Amino acid sequence: MNKYFKRHIVIGAFYSVLLSLHPVVAEEMSLNPNLGNTPLEETKTFQDFGGKEGLVKIMDDFMVGLVNDPRTKPFFDNEKQTYIKAMLVEQMCELLNGGCRYPGRDMKSSHANMKVNRAAFNALVEQFQFAMDKNNVPFSSQNKLLAKLAPMYRDIETTTGVAEAPVELNKVK
Ligand code: HEM
Repeated sequence: MNKYFKRHIVIGAFYSVLLSLHPVVAEEMSLNPNLGNTPLEETKTFQDFGGKEGLVKIMDDFMVGLVNDPRTKPFFDNEKQTYIKAMLVEQMCELLNGGCRYPGRDMKSSHANMKVNRAAFNALVEQFQFAMDKNNVPFSSQNKLLAKLAPMYRDIETTTGVAEAPVELNKVK
């Protein structure tokens, strides 16, 4: 590597740091287009969830509930559970301003190849509430997160008819 090339790298790095300090650019960089909503601004609610460790426990209980509930079982009783749980932990952590970056797909494309109706959506929310209750998340903090999730029904509900799990997930078991 010659010295001119090295100098280019140093100057390039300098300018990208400078650019990221610009308020508009910083704002752009921090918005995660796949998250589904903007994160909370405070971090107290995240603490009420027991931090990331707490979220992992909640998602474990949540998944047990989803698999035991006949309304959601067809969607979650498959080998994708571990992946979905991990994605939910990251998504909730970022929504709660817990310092995470959700790396998954956006809500529309990740639910596009299945039929989710209002009843299935509500069933999932109910199971999530059971899991939060079990893990002693205060009611007001539960509601702060639920308020971030509720508008996502627009991207997740894909039918007003009968609910149906993705065909390829049904084949797994
Ligand atoms: C606010 C409500 C919901 C949230 C926040 C949510 C969040 C997520 C996330 C983060 C993923 C992983 C995305 C990725 O692939 O990277 C996912 C996948 C999935 N979700 Fe949801 N979800 C919600 C509602 C529902 C409902 C109501 C159902 C069905 C009853 C459902 C069924 C699934 C299934 C089956 C997958 C795996 C899809 C696949 O990879 O083929 N979700 N969801």
